[in-house]
Amino acid sequence: MPKVTAQGKTFDCKPGANLRQVLLQNGIDLYNGQSRLINCRGIGTCGTCAVEIEGATSEANWRDRTRRSLPPHSSDRNLRLACQTQVLSDIQVTKYDGFWGQGQTRVWSPRVEG
Ligand code: FES
Repeated sequence: MPKVTAQGKTFDCKPGANLRQVLLQNGIDLYNGQSRLINCRGIGTCGTCAVEIEGATSEANWRDRTRRSLPPHSSDRNLRLACQTQVLSDIQVTKYDGFWGQGQTRVWSPRVEG
């Protein structure tokens, strides 16, 4: 079972599990501020579930690539949309600031709650 480490917690998930669902089910603060209430619920259009991931996941699909190519996101950043990402191995997740998680300052890192 892949292990996901985020915001100071480590938990198991099924191979291929949806990262957004895994994070929310384990009480991780995937969304910053009001984006907790205002988000697309995982259809890949709002871009607020962006995180940085270390470890093997599914390839970025077209929804992920398209949304992250639009401001305030940038394709230059090494981020992924959690709702469009399947977990394939042990991974470590970091969240950055900003409504869309597009900022430069970490809100939380894999081993630190923030
Ligand atoms: S929840 Fe909206 S893009 Fe992921």
